[in-house]
Amino acid sequence: METDKKLDVYYHGRLVGTLAETPDKRIAFQYSTEWQKTGFSISPFSLPLRNDVFIPNERSIDRFDGLFGVFADSLPDSWGGLLLDRYLQSIEINRGDITTLDRLAYIGKSGMGALEYLPSKEADYDLDNIGLDYDVIAKECENLMSARYSDQLDMLYKLGGSSGGTRPKVNIKEDNKEWIVKFPAKTDPDISGRREYDYSLCAKDCGIVMTETGLIPSSVCAGYFKTVRFDRVQGEKIFTITFAALLEADFRSPCCDYETYLKMVRVLTKDNDSDKKQMFKTMCFNVLTHNRDDHTKNFSFLYTDMNGWRLAPAYDLTYSDTYWGEQTTSVGGKGKDITKKDLIKLGVGAGLSASYCEECYLEIAEKTVMLKPYLTNS
Ligand SMILES: Nc1ncnc2c1ncn2[C@@H]1O[C@H](COP(=O)(O)OP(=O)(O)OP(=O)(O)O)[C@@H](O)[C@H]1O
Ligand SMILES: [Mg+2]
Repeated sequence: METDKKLDVYYHGRLVGTLAETPDKRIAFQYSTEWQKTGFSISPFSLPLRNDVFIPNERSIDRFDGLFGVFADSLPDSWGGLLLDRYLQSIEINRGDITTLDRLAYIGKSGMGALEYLPSKEADYDLDNIGLDYDVIAKECENLMSARYSDQLDMLYKLGGSSGGTRPKVNIKEDNKEWIVKFPAKTDPDISGRREYDYSLCAKDCGIVMTETGLIPSSVCAGYFKTVRFDRVQGEKIFTITFAALLEADFRSPCCDYETYLKMVRVLTKDNDSDKKQMFKTMCFNVLTHNRDDHTKNFSFLYTDMNGWRLAPAYDLTYSDTYWGEQTTSVGGKGKDITKKDLIKLGVGAGLSASYCEECYLEIAEKTVMLKPYLTNS
């Protein structure tokens, strides 16, 4: 089989640069001449805007399939990856026979965020007017997860093959908006959709910015959580990058502290006050509501020419455990037994006033009491 050794990266129809495989399977990147003059750095810490051939370090091979994090963000995670593998099998291609660049080419223009990869090998599917029964989709997702087989593989791949995260998902259009609908993972209880929805309402009530969320009714569980995509606004693709990608960090391991996150927000957003507050509030919310899976892929930045770098709305806020019983992202070095004092110290260290942090913490502590039933019964 012919495999790709080079691939072009586009943003809004403009050539950002070219990816090429090195002999040891790392994927080098160079910005195009035009982009160097008129574009922006797509990953400011590791890909500054200059005329260089950038080669990711050796750790990228395990971490990001040999890619810089910003391109690995375009590849699906475990759920979308399973679908992509099954799709490839259905067209008689073995996972082992294709390169990372091939996988990006299969994502083509359908990846999360705004980057597109050409020449694309994307399947040409028509997603409009497809009738969706969410209970059927949930059942098919379950089949695929447990028996690794589904009659509806084509549909699942069409709708979710490029999605991030562990849980099954579909990307849909409804009411002129683009949504992600999430389905339970094998280990999730029946209430998980309802719970994530309640968490989102509570987070918004605490002043945390999230996109519109909703709950799709179901006859087999307490409903499916849905959220409007912040990387698709009125048909335009918005550039996004996860914290994991920016830091070239392994999102599977607990490697970061909220202190780093707050610093990153200050540096990238030029100390934008509302983004800093959003980060502080999200940290308090996660600690107070037992959202321990607060890994580096559960936070992102957006970039637009008009607003520059801004913190993305919060997402994946729900009850979650880690097997080691601590937050994945620590607070001043602590993964558990985190106190109000610990949280406030980080906020003050990031330049917020002690009185703001105190008030904000108390408000979130009071408002998140409504989530208590989930904390005791989960
Ligand atoms: N509202 C949104 N707009 C755009 N992208 C989103 C949105 N919500 C989530 N995402 C992207 O989809 C990915 C998966 O979503 P999410 O984290 O909610 O799923 P998950 O399967 O529960 O994740 P995890 O593996 O962390 O448990 C996120 O990492 C993020 O990149
Ligand atoms: Mg997530």
